[in-house]
Amino acid sequence: MQHPYLLAIESSCDETAAAVVHRDGRVLSSIVHSQVDTHAIYGGVVPEIASREHLSRIDDVVGRALAQANIAPGDLGAVGATYGPGLIGALLVGLTYAKGLAQGLGVPFIGVHHIEGHLLAASADPALSPTSPYIGLVVSGGHTALYRFEGVGLSRLIGQTRDDAAGEAFDKSAKLLGLGYPGGAVIDRLASEGDPTRFPLPRSLRDRSHYDYSFSGLKTAVRTWVESYRKREGHDVDGQDLRDLCASLQDAIVDMLLHKAMLACRRQQLSTLVIGGGVAANSHLRREAVRRGLDNDVTVVVPPRALCTDNAVMIGMAGLQWWRQQRSSSLSLTAQADAQVEHAALALR
Ligand code: KG4
Ligand code: ZN
Repeated sequence: MQHPYLLAIESSCDETAAAVVHRDGRVLSSIVHSQVDTHAIYGGVVPEIASREHLSRIDDVVGRALAQANIAPGDLGAVGATYGPGLIGALLVGLTYAKGLAQGLGVPFIGVHHIEGHLLAASADPALSPTSPYIGLVVSGGHTALYRFEGVGLSRLIGQTRDDAAGEAFDKSAKLLGLGYPGGAVIDRLASEGDPTRFPLPRSLRDRSHYDYSFSGLKTAVRTWVESYRKREGHDVDGQDLRDLCASLQDAIVDMLLHKAMLACRRQQLSTLVIGGGVAANSHLRREAVRRGLDNDVTVVVPPRALCTDNAVMIGMAGLQWWRQQRSSSLSLTAQADAQVEHAALALR
């Protein structure tokens, strides 16, 4: 009898994560080791340090995921891991570990596209589980893109940022304001006590002829504003001014994200919007998405916060779909820094 458990591993950036999911879709365990404290002092992820920390943590993280699921390695029926996109050295750790384990156990190995994982994170909760086709908005520190999702291997990129990712707009602004790295969650907190209408900030690429985004103009506007504030006031932005700036910045980012997402739903005639990626943990984005969804007859699905930031459950949910289709990957599958979602199926046999 085939063993019904899939072990999934994620190591594309600065989270070393492992999860066990049952073939029927139940999530049995999830362990995430975040390297955020290691990289915070550098103001961003240092790829070489990330790879080394993945290497020193992966055994422990996988061991804890198996223990939490109360299973032994011999109970696994498949092993999946992210093959891209991401940092090559970081990806290689999880990918190689997964291939070795799968080969040693004589079970299928499944290479998973990281974005496909974000697009399927919500399906870990049966109450949320969206039915395809849907529009997927993936917003993280490295990506901001809209997809038409029809099933695994059947996602089509329909729009993306032409410069910075939305998470970068949060993180770079936070750095400028001395709020540390990564700053998205800090801005979220400060913004909750701020006035989003106080400082009008630019919203780029509003035209309806495409689904692309641009956040670099906003970043420059924030920098210019902060520099002139410092010159005028003789000190850093603080107090209510800081809270109002955070609220105004957050409002501009969320407005841009949802403007194109709702446009895509309307034009593509799809009534479900699924949001994933670290920025989907943002309180204003979560609330505003639901509000605009009601106005536009669009059902908005956002996974719980822990499944928005990088984790292995989402890799497990995508891997599961391939496993159920009896499709697995060759052990010669390599890590790919810029893996295209349209090519996800090519990673599978
Ligand atoms: O998906 P993720 O964990 O890693 C990447 O694949 O990049 O996303 C990390 C990003 C960072 O830019 C972080 O600042 C942002 O998600 N983020 C948030 C919040 N929590 C995390 N941005 C806004 N509000 C939040 N609450
Ligand atoms: Zn991610």
